[in-house]
Amino acid sequence: MLRDDHKSVERMFKAVEKGDLSVVPEICEALTVHATIEELVFYPAVRAEGGDAKEDIGEAVEEHHLVKILIEELGQLPSEDEAYKSKATVLMELVRHHVKEEEDELFPKVRSELGRNRLLELGDEMMKLQANLVGQPA
Ligand SMILES: [Fe+2]
Repeated sequence: MLRDDHKSVERMFKAVEKGDLSVVPEICEALTVHATIEELVFYPAVRAEGGDAKEDIGEAVEEHHLVKILIEELGQLPSEDEAYKSKATVLMELVRHHVKEEEDELFPKVRSELGRNRLLELGDEMMKLQANLVGQPA
């Protein structure tokens, strides 16, 4: 489920790279929901139940923190502002780095440490939360 989120964000990144800045608000919205879900469900579970994987969570949380700062700043800038595209680009670089670490390091560790059944449970919990968050007005 988290991987699917990563893929849909990456598709929007490609659009930005082709010069379509109109998808930036949608990217910010998707990243905010995604980060909230990870922070409320996934990271606490890994912290409580993980072994080695626990060590990756601190860094992931700091990356989320930077992502949120950029999202907030983008929300306050008109898209014509010359810093808008730069901020969007830095946001994309940061998220790509974060996604790569999660997919290459964190997810495999979590899969072996928490087990498939627990992951399916967490996936369910995250999907419910996502449905609630997306239904909410911004
Ligand atoms: Fe994340």
